[in-house]
Amino acid sequence: MKIITEEQIDEAALCLRNGGLVAFPTETVYGLGANALDPVAVAGIFEAKKRPSFDPLIVHISDISQLSQLFSNPVDPLVYTLASEFMPGPLTIVHRKSALVPELVTSGMENVAVRMPAHAIAHKLIKLSGVPVAAPSANLFGQLSPTSYKHVAKQQMDIDYLIAGDDAEHLVGIESTVVLVENGTCTILRPGVITAEDISQKLNINVTIASHNHKVGSPGLLNSHYSPRKPLYFYDDNQFELPEGSGLILHTTALHEIKAAKIIYTSHTANLLEVAAHLFTCLHEMEDDTTVTQIYIAPVEEKGVGISVMDRLKKATYQYR
Ligand code: TXA
Ligand code: MG
Repeated sequence: MKIITEEQIDEAALCLRNGGLVAFPTETVYGLGANALDPVAVAGIFEAKKRPSFDPLIVHISDISQLSQLFSNPVDPLVYTLASEFMPGPLTIVHRKSALVPELVTSGMENVAVRMPAHAIAHKLIKLSGVPVAAPSANLFGQLSPTSYKHVAKQQMDIDYLIAGDDAEHLVGIESTVVLVENGTCTILRPGVITAEDISQKLNINVTIASHNHKVGSPGLLNSHYSPRKPLYFYDDNQFELPEGSGLILHTTALHEIKAAKIIYTSHTANLLEVAAHLFTCLHEMEDDTTVTQIYIAPVEEKGVGISVMDRLKKATYQYR
């Protein structure tokens, strides 16, 4: 794996186009990209991530005109309305695929997921490669999503390039909102910082949130996911003293003294966008700290962006409950 900066992006784009694997920053989390039109390259993604089964991948584009190539005609007008409001940005649209999209990208499903990242490096890479780019988050199967190139590097995946972004840049921090467009309706398959209310207000339509049954049609939405390599538990407000070696992640400055080996904050004021932006970064920091043996994290209220934060945390803590 060659770690490069934006200056060598041409090299990485050519590699991507020719079937290589390139990890790159986006405004949500780092993606592990392959040429979406090359099934052999796409298969390489699953191998590098050590995924036990194939999962449908999001296809990343750099131009709105690519929507009509990837989705089958006639494209629901709602797709374009959504795209004009939220693309580029942290929104993924799932809609019936065209014949151009290989089955491996969609795990044999008739829909394909498409997203146009707002991050400058991601945009440049996709544009220079000249192809749509299939990319899951750039982490080994089941592990925490990466929000820094260092998080990608530590996974030691067998890939060609890793493009380092600027860690100080403000990021969304959690994966995109995934919305299914079907028969003139919108259904949220995965919550993100663009909420059901945001879409419903902008488009003046009713937006449903997929029930668990519906989600079976969207693999990758396993109960257990996004897990650090150390036990992770929800922190209960009444615990003033945590066991030895406990790391604690809070979202607001503590009102009372808590005894813990290490305390860090996603936000000092419970600002949910800040919480989302720093969520995976804080979890990685605890995962990497050798003085921490188990991690506690405070829950947030399940409202607005809090729904997305809790979606990730429930999955990350699942195996320890
Ligand atoms: O922000 C993001 O979306 C990041 C960056 C890299 O763009 N990508 C990402 O990819 O989170 P991944 O593979 O970790 O998650 C893709 C999600 C999964 O929940 C998957 O089930 C859903 O999108 N998905 C992909 N294709 C789908 C399809 N055809 N139908 C329904 N759901 C789909
Ligand atoms: Mg993922």
